[in-house]
Amino acid sequence: MTTITKTTKEREINRYQRCIDTSKRVRWDIEDDVIRGRMFDPSDKFMPDGLSMVSIFTTLTEDEKRFVSQIQGRTYASVFGLAERFVNAKVLEVSEDHWFGDQTALEALVRFSDEELKHQALFRRIEELIDETLPPGYDFVANTDEVARAVLEKSTWAVLGLTLDIELFTQLHYRQSIDSNDALSPLFRDVFLYHWKEESQHAILDELEWVRHDATITNAERDAAVDDFIDLVDAIDGILQWQSGADAKYFAAICGRNVGDEEVRTIQAGFLEAYRWTYIHSGAQNRRFSDVLGSLITGDQVRRIHAALETLH
Ligand SMILES: [Fe+2]
Ligand SMILES: [Fe+2]
Repeated sequence: MTTITKTTKEREINRYQRCIDTSKRVRWDIEDDVIRGRMFDPSDKFMPDGLSMVSIFTTLTEDEKRFVSQIQGRTYASVFGLAERFVNAKVLEVSEDHWFGDQTALEALVRFSDEELKHQALFRRIEELIDETLPPGYDFVANTDEVARAVLEKSTWAVLGLTLDIELFTQLHYRQSIDSNDALSPLFRDVFLYHWKEESQHAILDELEWVRHDATITNAERDAAVDDFIDLVDAIDGILQWQSGADAKYFAAICGRNVGDEEVRTIQAGFLEAYRWTYIHSGAQNRRFSDVLGSLITGDQVRRIHAALETLH
């Protein structure tokens, strides 16, 4: 038993160490590597078709669909700025468990936190550049710090689960951005690429920390945490509903033709479906996420989560 435990522990230390090694190897700079003096071009799409779901915006012309992808790109920068605020705070909090003892794990989490601060700065920079490119009037409805504070009131188990979901779906987002041959902005494509390079390590660390934390809680605490997780997904969906309304209104005000109330509602529904796919379902349906989740909770608890996700369509 001792041997097995030790082997598992050594394997974990190796995974933390590999994350540190990769983190050092792929490290990038916002201006020198990602921005490189570039601006956004309004004739490019920002979000790939697989995420913006342009095909469901059936009432729009091709130019209008491109505008939708640009609005979604701006929202993407803001949503990630928001998510990374609470992800970083939680990483700093759980790193306390490694202050003494495993310094390799501590170093991996410190690097994780440093990268997440950099990503927030990247997305603020992207938001500024888009602000210079698109017409005025866009509004991101959520307050980043208020949302982050509310998220962190939920149990650590739930926040780590949500974090793994988020960091796994950034990998899918990167794949969508390279798969698409639609005229995607080279700068936005690089945002997906560089973000993915560091998020890949974060997803491994999320899993290690989630499983480690899970072993410290009781069955009753875990059951309550499943409810917290569902509450967090519902709260995110609330933000997405609100934002899809704001984005549809902005589109209608700027697109240059008269858009009736019914079409605005259709466009809002399109934004919401795309956002639910981008920010909830693409992670929840990830195989790795399902495997880890399934290894931590009972079949009944998995069904509770799936039932909650099913309502978000
Ligand atoms: Fe990030
Ligand atoms: Fe991350």
